[in-house]
Amino acid sequence: MTKRFGGLTAVDKVDLSIDDGEIIGLIGPNGAGKTTLFNSIAGVYTPEEGSITFDGTELVGKAPHEIARQGITRTFQTARTFNESTVVDNVLAGAMFGRKNSGSLEEERENVWEYLEFLGLEDKGNEDASSLTIAHRKQLELARALASEPKLILVDEIGSGLTPTELDELSRNLQRTRDEFGISVFWIEHVMDAIMNATDRIIVLNQGQKIAEGSPSQIQQNRQVADAYLGGAEA
Ligand SMILES: Nc1ncnc2c1ncn2[C@@H]1O[C@H](COP(=O)(O)OP(=O)(O)OP(=O)(O)O)[C@@H](O)[C@H]1O
Ligand SMILES: [Mg+2]
Repeated sequence: MTKRFGGLTAVDKVDLSIDDGEIIGLIGPNGAGKTTLFNSIAGVYTPEEGSITFDGTELVGKAPHEIARQGITRTFQTARTFNESTVVDNVLAGAMFGRKNSGSLEEERENVWEYLEFLGLEDKGNEDASSLTIAHRKQLELARALASEPKLILVDEIGSGLTPTELDELSRNLQRTRDEFGISVFWIEHVMDAIMNATDRIIVLNQGQKIAEGSPSQIQQNRQVADAYLGGAEA
């Protein structure tokens, strides 16, 4: 698919696929088009060219809420929690609005504690989201995403602003999300250690184009990838 903003081609004929239960990393320098690719999958932007299919259904032209109900949900580069609401109500929003077949508000309010427990947030359920640390807010976004019962989660950078220990924990939780719920994870990250250790496969974007794809060790040895990050063969 291709997505342009005026004269700028932010995503340029990128072709990729994701299998069931895979954790795929998406890396690339600032402005490479990573978030734009996610926004195109999620229906925030409409690509000018190409096609995005999910379980055999064309997504291009569908609204974000319709795409969510097909089974794709996301977390944001800067956590977007509802800070005036409690932690449990944030997760409830995922259960009520992100799914095709939600139960009643009362039923779902009971059910969503499962996700808070899964992510170690059960002690914070009745607190306002505004009281959470950045790391807990990122866990909360993941809980809200899980509550919509997706098949694929798009994770746009969890590493920025976290300590190495906090990032380790979130990274483990993404792996548990795949292992225990069978959910595929498509994960943008600038923190290389995290993405190299936790993914099955990595895709590299540079100036809107896919320049490499392979296992973490293949990507680490790829000359073009090093050049894209370091700014030239001599570097
Ligand atoms: N809504 C928009 N309107 C115009 N240009 C945009 C818009 N969104 C992104 N861009 C441009 O598209 C290009 C890709 O941006 P994008 O945010 O997708 O990059 P990114 O890979 O996510 O970068 P980062 O690692 O800094 O988050 C950039 O040149 C950016 O300025
Ligand atoms: Mg981005």
